[in-house]
Amino acid sequence: MGWNSWNKFACNVSEDMIKSMADAVVKSGMKDAGYLYVNIDDCWQVSRDANSNIVADPQRFPHGMKAVGDYIHSLGLKFGVYSDAGSKTCAGRPGGLGHEYQDALQYAAWGIDYLKYDWCNTTTQDAKASYANIRAALDASGRPIVLSICEWGTAKPWLWGKEVGGNLWRSTGDIQDRWGGQEKWPDGNCCSNGVMAIIDQQVGLQSYAGPGHWNDPDMLEVGNGGMTDVEYRSHFSLWALLAAPLIAGNDLRTMRPEIHDILTNKEVIAVNQDALGREGERVAKNGDLEVWAKQLKDGSRAVILLNRGATEQQISANWEDLGYPSTVSASVRDLWLHKDLGKFPGKYSAAVPLHGVVMITVKP
Ligand code: GLA
Repeated sequence: MGWNSWNKFACNVSEDMIKSMADAVVKSGMKDAGYLYVNIDDCWQVSRDANSNIVADPQRFPHGMKAVGDYIHSLGLKFGVYSDAGSKTCAGRPGGLGHEYQDALQYAAWGIDYLKYDWCNTTTQDAKASYANIRAALDASGRPIVLSICEWGTAKPWLWGKEVGGNLWRSTGDIQDRWGGQEKWPDGNCCSNGVMAIIDQQVGLQSYAGPGHWNDPDMLEVGNGGMTDVEYRSHFSLWALLAAPLIAGNDLRTMRPEIHDILTNKEVIAVNQDALGREGERVAKNGDLEVWAKQLKDGSRAVILLNRGATEQQISANWEDLGYPSTVSASVRDLWLHKDLGKFPGKYSAAVPLHGVVMITVKP
């Protein structure tokens, strides 16, 4: 769990902004809720020096990267950066190709705890070999560093990400701050992914996730303005149930109370962080009406009733779809209302608003 600059700020990153965001992680209660990583995405780097060391933008990071890391660490938070397995990053900055061991030593010296490694400008490189190489370089640096594989799912990183020591791997192209399905970009290229497009691409991947190695459906857009609060609640609930990395991507310094309350819902976060480490899955689908479920360590289930349609609908979670006998009676708790709803035999039904969810736990 953490925060990353890209979804809101893109290339507009600086020492001042990152430090004030780290302050906001603490002051807003995000740190207490479990968000620990403060990750600078693309565009912090501008060149390599005469010794080929990577150089941070001296205007935007006048005190250098170690100073930023020291500040983040002084708040009890962890420090992440971004680079790319190819010759250049996606924004055209210097990539890591051919400098993996040198960069890893530099990152360790700066106190980096997390590296997001992108896949732009990799021409004929083999994805598995490239990520194994940066993992070996990070290990050789002597500092434990989380490796976030950002390969967009093209070479099916769920099949090899764990084996090469990746801690999380993107399973799709970039998320967009909108609700809908997959659409072509205006130039005809594939594809822009709304929240519904992303969750559809998680179906079938659940068995590859587990403690220390997760499918990554991309960072959160909660609070960035393109969706309603109901839709943001659904987005957050689904990411929690998918055991996805929860990397906030909004401006924490100015977020509305409604957005704060979504991102810090401790009952929903507990589902995400459950120690069994199962990824939830879609267990029922009837047109726009879906039921998603995740087994929890105590044997209970976290369940989402999801309404993708354009009007309010009644949705039922049947105990049989959750792996329980239909004859059992189970206690239901609503994780957004923070309320025990009582005991229900066989199923639980609720009215779900358009693009909304009802998120519950079900305990026989
Ligand atoms: C790619 C990644 C994004 C972001 C940008 C930065 O598109 O998938 O998450 O890191 O590059 O340029």
